[in-house]
Amino acid sequence: MTIRLGGILFGLAITGVLLLWSLLPGALNFAFPTKPDYYAFQEKNIAPEGGFSFDGPLGKWDTQQLQRGYQVYKEVCSACHSLKFVAFRNLQEIGFTEPEVRAEAASWEVPGIDPKDGSAIKRPGIPTDQFPSPYANEVEARAFNNNALPPDLTLITKARKDGVHYVYSLMQGYNEPDPEDVAKSPDFETPPGLYFNEYFYNINIAMPPQLLDGIVTYSDGTEATTEQMAQDITAFLTWAGEPSLIKRKQTGWFVIGFLLFATFLGFMSYKTVWATKKPKKGSPDLV
Ligand code: HEC
Repeated sequence: MTIRLGGILFGLAITGVLLLWSLLPGALNFAFPTKPDYYAFQEKNIAPEGGFSFDGPLGKWDTQQLQRGYQVYKEVCSACHSLKFVAFRNLQEIGFTEPEVRAEAASWEVPGIDPKDGSAIKRPGIPTDQFPSPYANEVEARAFNNNALPPDLTLITKARKDGVHYVYSLMQGYNEPDPEDVAKSPDFETPPGLYFNEYFYNINIAMPPQLLDGIVTYSDGTEATTEQMAQDITAFLTWAGEPSLIKRKQTGWFVIGFLLFATFLGFMSYKTVWATKKPKKGSPDLV
């Protein structure tokens, strides 16, 4: 009896811990290393009011938002950042039709080869091409950016701690350093050619502010405020980094359902197997 009770309690405890772990990200992060010191300047990234549509176990992509994010990437970020692990045909996953994807691809120039003499040329993209890099190589990229290298953005939300909120915060983190801090330490003064951004690990970033109000005109009529664009580009980059995010969550629910069903089945067969061996309470003993 005690063993059975102990077993049930132990099972419940494990289930409880796993449930908490999956539902409250960060609540039980004993398994993860703590924040490195250089990220200590800014303690907490900000999140949009009401969160992202893909947050939580029941999250979903908002395809309208992903398309707006793509527009921001195309019209703003792609001047400096590549997105090399995403192909044009992947845009179908965010609601573009096949002809639209073909037209989108053709609106980009990708590196190609002249079929006559093999020399390097630019040609319009086709759906199977990946998003091209705006620079020929790293040297050129640095030469255009005060010697800093704009990273490829495909996996950026994975490559930074709390990456989704980090990108969202970084895009809105341009500011002036606190004059009191500057008076206290010359380290707070922004060097020429760099920009103060309180979310960047060393507070001075080589990327100029990008998402100025109205820098894009959304084709769906949404007002292009800095906050709106930051939210949209973050959603788009989250999708680019993990297109199967929503499927993964749905699979989780399916697995939980299956395990519950298997538990029920196990319990019922246990009952059947032992039905003849164990007398019911109050019934006369079997001999
Ligand atoms: C004019 C060029 C330029 C444009 C346009 C640009 N960036 Fe950047 N970006 C940079 C450079 C340069 C860096 C590297 C900064 C550094 O290391 O100081 C960078 C770095 C970043 C980083 C990485 C920060 C880190 O933690 O290392 C992110 C994220 C980023 N950019 C997002 C964006 C997004 C999103 C857009 C479009 C809305 C964009 N960038 C547009 C030049 C640009």
